[in-house]
Amino acid sequence: MSSPKNSLANKSKAWSGRFAEPVAALVQAYTSSLHFDQRLALVDIAGSLAHAEMLAAQKIISKSDFLAIQKGMAQIEKEILAGKFDWQLALEDVHLNIEARLTKLIGDAGKRLHTGRSRNDQVATDIRLWLRTEIDQILVDLKRLRTALLDQAEKHAATIMPGHTHLQVAQPVTFGHHLMAYYEMFTRDAQRLTDCRRRVNQLPLGAAALAGTSYPIDRERVAKTLGFEGVCQNSLDAVSDRDFAIEFCAAAAMFMMHVSRLSEELILWLSPRFGFIDLPDRFCTGSSIMPQKKNPDVPELARGKTGRVNGDLIALLTLMKGQPLAYNKDNQEDKEPLFDAVDTIAQTLQIFADMVPQISVNQEIMLSAAEEGFATATDLADYLVKKGMPFRDAHESVAHAVKLCVKKNCALSDLSLADLIKACGLNPKSNSIDKDVFTLLSPKGSVHSRNHIGGTAPKQVLAAIKRARTSLKK
Ligand code: ARG
Repeated sequence: MSSPKNSLANKSKAWSGRFAEPVAALVQAYTSSLHFDQRLALVDIAGSLAHAEMLAAQKIISKSDFLAIQKGMAQIEKEILAGKFDWQLALEDVHLNIEARLTKLIGDAGKRLHTGRSRNDQVATDIRLWLRTEIDQILVDLKRLRTALLDQAEKHAATIMPGHTHLQVAQPVTFGHHLMAYYEMFTRDAQRLTDCRRRVNQLPLGAAALAGTSYPIDRERVAKTLGFEGVCQNSLDAVSDRDFAIEFCAAAAMFMMHVSRLSEELILWLSPRFGFIDLPDRFCTGSSIMPQKKNPDVPELARGKTGRVNGDLIALLTLMKGQPLAYNKDNQEDKEPLFDAVDTIAQTLQIFADMVPQISVNQEIMLSAAEEGFATATDLADYLVKKGMPFRDAHESVAHAVKLCVKKNCALSDLSLADLIKACGLNPKSNSIDKDVFTLLSPKGSVHSRNHIGGTAPKQVLAAIKRARTSLKK
């Protein structure tokens, strides 16, 4: 059958026949998504080829039409990759641009590609295909960051630092243990993304505009060709909901929240007041006025960019909340926040995976900070408990010992045994405190004593690293 002259290849719009005048220039610019959805071009082609292959297999189009579509798409892909594709704003979006070019290249076969399909199921398919690949790359980079944390933690399994609560010195911990806390957070982030990928990886194609299609299509076949785990089970849902993208952004925001916490610590540790760590100059910047400055711009920016990823999540949640079934043009607004969240976490991950192995530690400064602030006071209380004192009484006794130290301006370990016994309000004749207490009053004794799964003892840190390396290999 020959086709009418006013088709997509000749006219500027897929739906022009219905309209009596061209769209206003402002409206054209306002409604076009071309400047951002161009990045879906290659997945759009992949989706179209899988659809066309199915149409041919089901005898909805001829084999020769499919071969022509394949050839035309190969040419278009080449043009896009070479930057030679002539994108036309008037053609609204990536889908119509590619279809129009295809028809120009191969004629009527190009016009048959859209049989049994709508841009509604097409775009939903494209986003899912695109996001799936991005998640896979993000998981690779996340593994690199987690491995970097493990390597640093192994190096510093016995390096002592002050652990903080309320940003005040609380109890000594090992730097390895501290880094392993982030390993755990990033591992849960990886699990969330892996889980999210399963729901991303479902095929919308076949839903057509909203109600499905009357052609004898084979959705399972298309799903298999494109590597989807299954097909979306309801056509209205398939074309309209973007919960898979929202879920991704939620996982991305959570990841950034973790990066931001780590960043905050890096910034503190790098400040000369802490002086715990250093970073190579290539990860820092200077000040245009203060020649002495070396600023931790990377962690500061990561902390700042956490806000924009939170914004991307809120944008998508808000975009979706008022939409009646099924597709509404609102959904075109799903792309920029999603792209932004992907780009932000991808870049952040790469730079952190490069930077973490470069963190150098000033062990003496960390250790002497752990010796400040009576960080082993709990160890003394625990010691008294083990000698039979109820914990509340031990807590009170140690508080008196701390008070004495404040008066004398010294550490708990600087007190003589006699002073310690007296300050704790103990009978000097009883042997409730022995000389062995001084081992525990040292940060090293303190960390070694916390020797259980999840504890800060170097032995436990090494065991945690070993478990982590085994599960990373899976
Ligand atoms: N550019 C559109 C989007 O991103 C494609 C789908 C258009 N569908 C429609 N019925 N106007 O959502």
